[in-house]
Amino acid sequence: MRIIPIASGKGGVGKSMVAANLAVAFAQAGKRTILVDLDLGASNLHLVIGHQAPQLGIGTFLGDPRSDFAKVITDTDLPNLKFIPGDTEIPGTATLKVSQRQALVKRLLSLNADILILDLGAGTHQSILEFFLLSGQGIIVSAPTVTATLNAYVFLKNAVFRLMYTAFTKDSRAYAYLEKLRKEGSGLQRLYLPKMLEEIKNIDGKSYGKFKTHVDRLHPALIMNMAHDPKDADVALKIRRSCEVYLDLKIELLGVIYQDALQDISLASRMPVTIYKPQAVVSQSLYRIADKILQTDEDNFTLTDEEINETFQDAASEAEQDFESKLEYVEELMHSGALSQGDLIETVKTQQLEIMKLKKENNFLKYTLSKAMKQGFKP
Ligand SMILES: Nc1ncnc2c1ncn2[C@@H]1O[C@H](COP(=O)(O)OP(=O)(O)OP(=O)(O)O)[C@@H](O)[C@H]1O
Ligand SMILES: [Mg+2]
Repeated sequence: MRIIPIASGKGGVGKSMVAANLAVAFAQAGKRTILVDLDLGASNLHLVIGHQAPQLGIGTFLGDPRSDFAKVITDTDLPNLKFIPGDTEIPGTATLKVSQRQALVKRLLSLNADILILDLGAGTHQSILEFFLLSGQGIIVSAPTVTATLNAYVFLKNAVFRLMYTAFTKDSRAYAYLEKLRKEGSGLQRLYLPKMLEEIKNIDGKSYGKFKTHVDRLHPALIMNMAHDPKDADVALKIRRSCEVYLDLKIELLGVIYQDALQDISLASRMPVTIYKPQAVVSQSLYRIADKILQTDEDNFTLTDEEINETFQDAASEAEQDFESKLEYVEELMHSGALSQGDLIETVKTQQLEIMKLKKENNFLKYTLSKAMKQGFKP
């Protein structure tokens, strides 16, 4: 069974949208797919796939871990797609006890399916990282904003640290070294990882070797969602470089998905966009991503540097093509009279206002930051 966890760091960037639509695409391709809402405490995936408010969900199971897990697996309108709802009533993933998480993971791993998609919550809580690390083939969804890209990188950095803590036993010198650094006050997150790893390799080669086996299985793939123009593919390159330089981690780019009003229209109609309008540009980019995943060999996932470069080049040229298709669509709407020049002018005006507002906020933030730096704050 192939496990595909979907994470982001920052909330609201489209994890659930991507999870639901990939699940649809896999099911339509004949794969027995189970979509799991692991955003406990803030579950809303049932809305995205047009499922009625669930009676039973993961919370039911967590409340009584000896209960029959099969009870929480529900059918959907699509033949090959099953769904496991999360829960909004329970306090959330962050408060999961280790024993609860382990019981849940055990049930998830024993499910009978071809593909298991895990829609994770936002943030970098330990449980979220553990769910993400259940597979080496997790997906990170980001938007092209500075905060979303930073959070995508921070999520991966935390995942790498989590792997270290998993690999190092408590009595090892590597663990003692990590703890010493942590207690020294600067915080592990601020340290330069490659240098730290070099040190760990020197003082405790065995623990380092264990970590290396874990981290070598980690091949995260990025999706840049809510893009505005083809240049947003370059933002993905920045995440890639940070991961390579600071984490010694290679990531590939699965694709770029444009911001599209159709997404919220389909959400309001309680349908994944791939079902609501399969031919739309946004749906086609989701299908393309699903195809790429299905074409990769799940057991032999390591890509060479050249292949990784290719994933970025392909995604960038697909983004160019999608952009053209979107422009053609606008032209068609104008020709058919469905969109007037007045509508277009209104849209541009609104966007200009939004950009001005963002610029103002940005200036204010810069001003606050420079004031704080004068008072000794170090970013
Ligand atoms: N490409 C897109 N174009 C337009 N709207 C989008 C796109 N992707 C997602 N959205 C919208 O953005 C909102 C957030 O998406 P979604 O709920 O999938 O994000 P999320 O990362 O799962 O959020 P959370 O962290 O709260 O779980 C939703 O209203 C969704 O319809
Ligand atoms: Mg979500």
